[in-house]
Amino acid sequence: MAKVLVTGGAGYIGTHTLVELLAAGHEPIVIDNLVNSSAESLKRVAKISGQEVAFYKFDLCDSEKLNDLCGAENFDAVIHFAGLKAVGESVAKPLEYYQNNLQSTLTLLAAMEKHHIPSLIFSSSATVYGDPSELPLKETSRVGVGLTNPYGKTKYFIEEILRDWSAAHPDKQVTILRYFNPIGAHPSGLIGEDPQGPPNNLMPYVAQVAAGVRPELTINGNDYDTPDGTGVRDYIHVVDLARGHVAALSNPATGVRTYNLGTGKGVSVMEAVAAFEKACGHPIAYKIGPRRAGDIATCYASADLAAAELGWRATKTLDEACQDAWRWQSQNPQGFRQ
Ligand code: NAD
Ligand code: UFG
Repeated sequence: MAKVLVTGGAGYIGTHTLVELLAAGHEPIVIDNLVNSSAESLKRVAKISGQEVAFYKFDLCDSEKLNDLCGAENFDAVIHFAGLKAVGESVAKPLEYYQNNLQSTLTLLAAMEKHHIPSLIFSSSATVYGDPSELPLKETSRVGVGLTNPYGKTKYFIEEILRDWSAAHPDKQVTILRYFNPIGAHPSGLIGEDPQGPPNNLMPYVAQVAAGVRPELTINGNDYDTPDGTGVRDYIHVVDLARGHVAALSNPATGVRTYNLGTGKGVSVMEAVAAFEKACGHPIAYKIGPRRAGDIATCYASADLAAAELGWRATKTLDEACQDAWRWQSQNPQGFRQ
């Protein structure tokens, strides 16, 4: 049983991870400033789990509050989800992204040093691979080349910071998890992704079209060098992703470890839309638009390292993810706003 500080725990991946941490007998404590989430999500976690989660609402960049909390609690580990994540917004507001994502991480690492917290799990992204040098992407594949937006660069820069930090503090356990494309929702329908404004990502957009919130999906190009011309990604059920964090927590090792969390399987936009149509039982209106700036054709993981070293593999299917996303969308048309 570990006492775990979960930064950004009120968000999409954070809430699903809280459920899995509680189910595994751990004690999570959340910091979130709710800049992209709401406290209702944590009430839902309590409903699913039958346990309350301690929650502190403040900005992770607030070193005084963070040190007070870390001084009062004897944390065994930190799972660091907090960060801004909208790719387009990061292009418009680069300083906001660098300030929030980098400064919060630096503040956290300083607190971990001061309060002797031994273990960190960091939310990185397949975006660090930029334009893929090989497929499937392995943890050893080239990173940092062809990053087209400040958000993606914050993930790459933070990975570099963590390597330097680990070199100076070889006793720390640092696990970098590179998420591919998280989708779906908890099967209870009580928690899920709750985008503020028009969704940036495919699946929440498709869910809103299916629900009649938006008239149609625009497919960002069908002239890629892929089997049907649309972009190919590795969509991973968020509950599988959440369980990857529990597996990382249960398998500590000193130094920096990096794992892809993906399924190992590429799915096209057309295939993803077809799976969602099956889940919701009706057609999804779409049109073909131009390519989206900065997009790559194909991205999918080799998921073997996490299987070998953490004993973790994704087990849920695309169909299950679509069914769970549809349950969440149809039961919560306003998301967490009631
Ligand atoms: P999310 O926006 O739902 O959750 C992030 C949480 O962090 C939010 O609740 C937000 O309020 C909080 N937060 C942001 N800045 C903060 C700060 N300075 N202090 C305190 N709280 C702060 O996003 P998510 O989808 O759950 O993503 C979690 C992490 O995983 C992020 O770091 C994200 O970049 C990374 N990631 C997400 C995806 C994805 O597609 N969802 C893919 C790869 C990596
Ligand atoms: N797409 C559409 N229409 C839309 C939205 C997306 O056709 O309205 C297409 C995209 O062009 C792409 C695919 O659907 O081919 C997936 O797009 P997403 O935006 O859902 O996902 P990305 O792979 O582009 O990016 C996501 C996150 C990044 C993260 C990356 C890798 O947005 O932050 O996954 O983890 F870095």
